[in-house]
Amino acid sequence: MNGRDDVLVLGIETSCDETAAAVVRGGREILSNAVHSQVAIHARFRGVVPEVASRSHTTRILPIVQQALADAGVAAAELDAVAVTARPGMVGSLLVGLAAAKTLSALFGLPLIGVDHVAAHLHAAFMTEPDVPLPCLALMASGGHTALYALRRVGGPHERLGRTIDDAAGEALDKGAALLGLPYPGGPSIQAAARAGRADAIELPRPMLGGDSLDFSFSGLKTALLYHLRGPGLVRPMPELDEAQIADLAAAYQAAVVDTLIRKLRRAARRAADAGGYRSLAIAGGVARNELLRERLRSDRELGRLHHVFPPLALCSDNGAMIAGLGTWLWCERGQVDGLDLDARATSRREG
Ligand code: KG4
Ligand code: ZN
Repeated sequence: MNGRDDVLVLGIETSCDETAAAVVRGGREILSNAVHSQVAIHARFRGVVPEVASRSHTTRILPIVQQALADAGVAAAELDAVAVTARPGMVGSLLVGLAAAKTLSALFGLPLIGVDHVAAHLHAAFMTEPDVPLPCLALMASGGHTALYALRRVGGPHERLGRTIDDAAGEALDKGAALLGLPYPGGPSIQAAARAGRADAIELPRPMLGGDSLDFSFSGLKTALLYHLRGPGLVRPMPELDEAQIADLAAAYQAAVVDTLIRKLRRAARRAADAGGYRSLAIAGGVARNELLRERLRSDRELGRLHHVFPPLALCSDNGAMIAGLGTWLWCERGQVDGLDLDARATSRREG
């Protein structure tokens, strides 16, 4: 094994609808980050269909690994280890990445490192800024997960402070977009439509779940939008919306999601204040790409005072670099090496 600073690790990610592979040097330097998105395949279903996803992964995984190696200018035999997402995710999809990683591990004699997908999203903060001032309050918001964490050390385990009890923030955006006739995935299409809209055009709820809860609940939001469109009891047919109405509704909906995330972050920050508080704030996951969220956090009176770690967009949505980054750390600092019995799991360990 080379020194920690120049180890070359391949990261493979197939937990959902992105087939991704990346080569990362020293846990941080991203030499390549190849992603094949299945968005076009799932768009007509307005969501990810598990079996369709795993079938697509099997056709894409080897070309994506080859692309990651070629973009990095690295031959497979030069790699030092291979890291792969083992949990949480759709099991049929995870198995495709695992099979590829195990094959490469066996062929080239590479240590195999199984990585938790959510921990890898959070690790993107440390790849962006290795000396993140700790403790760091982190928001993880994607299509499958929405939770708040306290990061106290690189590599975790990270303390989960609260999580969604129903839909994830990205899922709420995807479902809201479907109601407005906007394309999947909903996050980017709502963001684009919202630019021309007025967020105060209609009032939508900000579900807070009691005075001190740090859990989220987003499922009521799409119902509120549906009732707005079709009336209480859904008595009206779905209205024909013009572009200006869609823009207003998208802006109001996006603001409700972002506002809820920010209010919970403030609540979490306040709660820790007596114990010294947080020194920084990180965001992770596909929803962390959102421009309104970033802007609102920057200008927030309370949260704006914390040191912000906003990873570049490519490190927010699903990617292989974050898997390689955390994998390098687990291997080099913790000595983690998995056997060929490494299995896929639908949930994170703690959720067992
Ligand atoms: O992390 P990710 O790529 O995959 C999962 O692990 O789920 O997140 C995908 C989610 C989708 O729900 C998508 O609508 C949302 O992230 N998303 C966004 C934006 N870009 C992607 N949400 C808000 N604003 C965006 N710009
Ligand atoms: Zn993800």
